[in-house]
Amino acid sequence: MSSAHRGQPKRTTLTSLAEQKTSGAPVVMITAYDYPSARIADQAGVDIVLVGDSAANVVLGYDSTVPVSVDELLVLTRAVRRGLSGALLVADLPFGSYEASDLDAVHTAQRFVKEGGADAVKLERGGTTVDRARAVIAAGIPVMGHVGLTPQAATSLGGYKVQGRTADRAEQLVREALTLQDAGCFAVVIEAVPSAVTDLLVPLLHCLTIGIGAGAAADGQVLVWHDLLGITTDHRAKFVRTFADLHAESLRGVSAYAAAVREREFPAPEHTYAISESELDLLRTALAQP
Ligand code: KIV
Repeated sequence: MSSAHRGQPKRTTLTSLAEQKTSGAPVVMITAYDYPSARIADQAGVDIVLVGDSAANVVLGYDSTVPVSVDELLVLTRAVRRGLSGALLVADLPFGSYEASDLDAVHTAQRFVKEGGADAVKLERGGTTVDRARAVIAAGIPVMGHVGLTPQAATSLGGYKVQGRTADRAEQLVREALTLQDAGCFAVVIEAVPSAVTDLLVPLLHCLTIGIGAGAAADGQVLVWHDLLGITTDHRAKFVRTFADLHAESLRGVSAYAAAVREREFPAPEHTYAISESELDLLRTALAQP
């Protein structure tokens, strides 16, 4: 009997992802940063869960992804690992943890696999990142690339802006994706790129393509957990669709709790524990002694 028949989530592997690419079945990817969200992603049958360095913004409250550390992301990766049994777990290597040398890249990637339980890691940009990706893959760790708007380099990209709007920049981005594929990446994320550029790029790649703000042509899509569930109320990128309004629902719930405590309406008798009258009598007697 297959695991799907036993009610367990199907297990995503690099092979099953390649089969999805061939069959044209869209790949669903989502970010998650803790145990309960990982459980929900798994139950919903998501194919890939990314512990994104977007955790810096949406979980840790930094104003960019640059400050988040390996140790901070490792705590989140371990929590997500404990919640997943079906989806492939990819971890972002944070800014400053892999760029300087192949040794750094391999060492950091190994920490995410050994200590975090990740199945694969994601690195941003082309350029020297391609060499880092090659080194990590040679060390036996699958790598997902990331082109277009790569938030770790937002300053040098002129801010959080759509990328590839000129022929030159679009060509550069296409070439970055091709070199990442040639380096052995099993997938490439394409972020904030005109959909017409993605339309031209995707047929050139045999590795998996995952879009975010890059149109519908990619083999799969990824969104940030807090964006798609409407948890954050900050500025939302044009490409985000909110599939739930958890901010409003959470605010309603927490306000109702606060009101119930202030009105002494909570806890009610059904939320309390009992003690037998005889034990209570003994207690009263004991407390009455000087
Ligand atoms: O960090 C992240 O959440 C990401 C996704 C948006 C792809 O890199």
